[in-house]
Amino acid sequence: MLAWTVDHSSPSHLSLREVPDPVPGPHDAVIQVLAFAPNHGDLEALPGLPDGMIPGWDAAGVVVAEALDGTGPRLGQVVASLGVDSAWAQRRLVTAESVGVAPDGADPNLTSVVPVAATSALRGLRRLGPLLGRRVLVLGGTSAVGLFAVQLAARSGAEVVATTRNRAARRRLVELGAREVIAAPSDLGQDVSGVLDLLGGSHLVEAFARLAPGGTLVALGHAAGQGERFGYGALFGDAGRHDRSLTTFFLGAETGLGPDMAWLATEIHEGRLDPVVVAVRPWQELPDAFAAGAGRTHGKVVLTVG
Ligand SMILES: NC(=O)c1ccc[n+]([C@@H]2O[C@H](COP(=O)([O-])OP(=O)(O)OC[C@H]3O[C@@H](n4cnc5c(N)ncnc54)[C@H](OP(=O)(O)O)[C@@H]3O)[C@@H](O)[C@H]2O)c1
Repeated sequence: MLAWTVDHSSPSHLSLREVPDPVPGPHDAVIQVLAFAPNHGDLEALPGLPDGMIPGWDAAGVVVAEALDGTGPRLGQVVASLGVDSAWAQRRLVTAESVGVAPDGADPNLTSVVPVAATSALRGLRRLGPLLGRRVLVLGGTSAVGLFAVQLAARSGAEVVATTRNRAARRRLVELGAREVIAAPSDLGQDVSGVLDLLGGSHLVEAFARLAPGGTLVALGHAAGQGERFGYGALFGDAGRHDRSLTTFFLGAETGLGPDMAWLATEIHEGRLDPVVVAVRPWQELPDAFAAGAGRTHGKVVLTVG
């Protein structure tokens, strides 16, 4: 089969070449990959991966061989699949735990955005507890995770405030469900009950200062690439600042993702969740898509696999 493999002799760190087909174990089904949508993290990780490895965390495809032990998706089903590698290839091994089954007729291009971006948004928001009637800050609203978080939080009944440094992106965030769009937490009027943070750094520190008593900040992303420095008093609990908490998040440590990925794929298929796809390109154009910022655009770039 053909696969993109890590090749540090190439400026893109990638080359498309013939590799052996993956050999399934008893729990593995095989999917024919039809589309994948690179993440910011995929791009960041490339220079540190070993030569010859097939990268890529998420892919959507159709099951072409079921697992011998009878577990996992069925022949012909379209699935969203999540893993730590091997997505950018014509075929990929999947298990019952690593896939969400999409509804019949689901578009693989749109399904491919589910595994990392949409699922992280859903699981991160759950850490904030019930959202109905609560004011929630999505810090980094235009990140891929943020664009889903804004929609899902608004759907859950939250009053969503989102941040972006980019004035032109404000309208898009309002269309997706943000009640208010600001440049930074320092622009907040009222305090918030929860924060989903995709930025980290000084943004996290500022947002933590604006948490209402009992509020939680979920540190999910670190796109700003800065450290966090809390000044003396930042963690005091008096003067209406009691019971605030800060928690970290890692999608790779989350379990039982299959039903959530299936639900997200259904919401996208039935038009209730915008997949935020900004471009669809043939997979041969992967390095060009990266050069053009596929992992950096406001929305997902999908590569279709022939
Ligand atoms: N913990 C986990 O399991 C997990 C899972 C998924 C993702 N992540 C992390 O979550 C973060 C977001 O990922 P993604 O793929 O959704 O990101 P992305 O699409 O690359 O978006 C990053 C966004 O951050 C904003 N930004 C970048 N640098 C900034 C800075 N210096 N100051 C303020 N804003 C800045 C930009 O928004 P504007 O230009 O509009 O301001 C941009 O839209 C990443 O750190 C990623 O590694 C973690």
